[in-house]
Amino acid sequence: MFGFASDNTAPVHPRIFEAMQKANMGYYPSYGEDLLTERAVRLLCKLTGAKNAFFVHTGTSANILGMAPFLRPYNSVLCSHIAHINTHECGALQRATGARVLPILTKDGKLRTEDIRPQLNATGNYHESQPAIISITQPTEIGTLYSLAEIKELADFAHKHGLLLHMDGARFSQAAAALGINPEDMTSQQGVDILSLGGAKNGLMYGEAIVFFKHTDEIRYHIKQGMQLASKMRYIAAQFLELYGTDLWLELAGKANKMAKILEKGLDARGIKAAYPVETNAVFVPLNPATREKLLKKYMFYVWEEEKDICRLMCSYHTEEKEIEDFLAALDEAMC
Ligand SMILES: Cc1ncc(COP(=O)(O)O)c(C=O)c1O
Repeated sequence: MFGFASDNTAPVHPRIFEAMQKANMGYYPSYGEDLLTERAVRLLCKLTGAKNAFFVHTGTSANILGMAPFLRPYNSVLCSHIAHINTHECGALQRATGARVLPILTKDGKLRTEDIRPQLNATGNYHESQPAIISITQPTEIGTLYSLAEIKELADFAHKHGLLLHMDGARFSQAAAALGINPEDMTSQQGVDILSLGGAKNGLMYGEAIVFFKHTDEIRYHIKQGMQLASKMRYIAAQFLELYGTDLWLELAGKANKMAKILEKGLDARGIKAAYPVETNAVFVPLNPATREKLLKKYMFYVWEEEKDICRLMCSYHTEEKEIEDFLAALDEAMC
């Protein structure tokens, strides 16, 4: 019933459980002073070309604490109007840093330099919040992708204007798998400064990483004060070592993306066209109220844009073709 509600609803991958089980032996130093955390940090730095990495429990905390060291209360973070930091983080950025989220209207969830430029008129005007960070989501909240050239353009633009580029990569693996590129290409090679690297939406039990391409000494204080310093860090590290230390991340993300394509094809065959290009593991389609009300009795999913009847159907590494067939059969019934 919850299979298409979110990739968060999928179970923990068995290999992740095994990795946690292996880490569950004897005593380890706490608060990230252990060997597994050291290895996991080294792994993420090598994989992405970063300077440092830290583990936290949630994607929201990765976003907020990743940006916190670079923000003053009079700053603003520029992002798409549908960015998670703007719509689904309950004002956490403002609460934690005092800085303002400044949403910019985007047609496909993607920020473009021409849309950002007018916001920079505020720079130097002490009556207005001062832009400090551009935050993009890769893939976007509607599953679309920035190309490498687009990321680079935004990074160059940010740096030219004295800003940083943050990437919310809650579904980073799905993006890299879809683009067929390695994590370094999508980040350090294009000039990304801060990355929130996801885990929970691709088979982990919990845990996200904040990956820094820019040096910060202050981050440890932000993490502790932000209530995200895990005493038993080794269990998050063990999960990341298993996911990103092998090809598991690619395998799982590739599967989720493939399932979304199959779902899109099945919907398309029924005359239901995707509202946005299906580039990763999300499928957004219009479903009229009568149909979706019937379907919602059997399947949980979100009505994403009420005014356009657009619903979000998410696939995950755990989605099977049979589940898609069953869902489509239920849809056929609901449309009668
Ligand atoms: C794009 C994006 N960023 C960040 C998050 C943060 O997730 P969490 O619920 O772990 O704070 C989510 C979760 O759905 C997300 O979709």
